[in-house]
Amino acid sequence: MKQHKTKPERAATGIQRVPTYVDGLDERMQGGIPASSVVLVSGVSGTMKSSLTFNILYNEALKGKNGLYITLEQSSESFITHLKSLDFDLGKINLALVSSTAELDSKVSQLDSKKSTIVLADMSILRKGTNRRIGFEASSLVSMVRNFVTMMKRHNGSIFVLDSLSAFYIMSKFESPRHDLFDFFAFLRDSGITSFLISEMPLKRDRYGDYEVEGFLADGVIKLDLVERQRKVTREICVIKMRATKCSNDVFSLEFEKGRFRALYGGQPPLI
Ligand SMILES: Nc1ncnc2c1ncn2[C@@H]1O[C@H](COP(=O)(O)OP(=O)(O)OP(=O)(O)O)[C@@H](O)[C@H]1O
Ligand SMILES: [Mg+2]
Repeated sequence: MKQHKTKPERAATGIQRVPTYVDGLDERMQGGIPASSVVLVSGVSGTMKSSLTFNILYNEALKGKNGLYITLEQSSESFITHLKSLDFDLGKINLALVSSTAELDSKVSQLDSKKSTIVLADMSILRKGTNRRIGFEASSLVSMVRNFVTMMKRHNGSIFVLDSLSAFYIMSKFESPRHDLFDFFAFLRDSGITSFLISEMPLKRDRYGDYEVEGFLADGVIKLDLVERQRKVTREICVIKMRATKCSNDVFSLEFEKGRFRALYGGQPPLI
């Protein structure tokens, strides 16, 4: 995985920004996402939602910033195998595997202080345990995620990925989704951490999040897609919205090659 060249993080507007590390996209959105935003990354299965968000965490870590990745569905073993297949050089960072907030402080304090840390919190075990029948109190799961974020802030964490919101909903039913999600998004925004919430888009592609309100509540929405044309499947990326940002809403084709994501024009159907 190649390290991206350091880009200026503070655009002329004075807003500090986090790049998406998608070449061709950051240039068309004033350098990236305003820091402290809550961004929904929505797409059908296999659109590289996890890879793209981890790529942001990884590249920020190479620039000295710590991050938190909570996986609720895919186990950490399976995720790490996937990251290695994408050529991420995990030796350049501290990757701290934890399965509860209780472990976080002691694990992080033992790490090489010369490298930045990504905490990979594997909560997929809880998911297996809940199995719908038992179900988590939404409030306790939200509290757990909040505690992780608060602890990570104490360890200078600046980026957070929740993979995924959809799994979060399966584990815990919200009684009043609009209200509860508003509070959750507000907490994340106020914490100062830049958050990426992954959302599984239904195949009908008729909404960005399960409760439909996520798109309104989020500061940014990035849509990833797989499109079949003439028996060829192309990946696509589109910034549906990004508050406080002049950005292109064009649909780009998304390529991943030699450890880099690139957004390109050219996803148009071929001429017959
Ligand atoms: N080395 C590689 N280069 C390019 N693409 C790859 C490579 N390895 C895997 N992929 C693609 O990455 C996809 C999976 O990426 P990722 O897990 O990030 O997607 P996702 O949207 O998070 O998937 P899910 O919906 O299962 O969570 C696979 O479908 C595969 O096509
Ligand atoms: Mg995924």
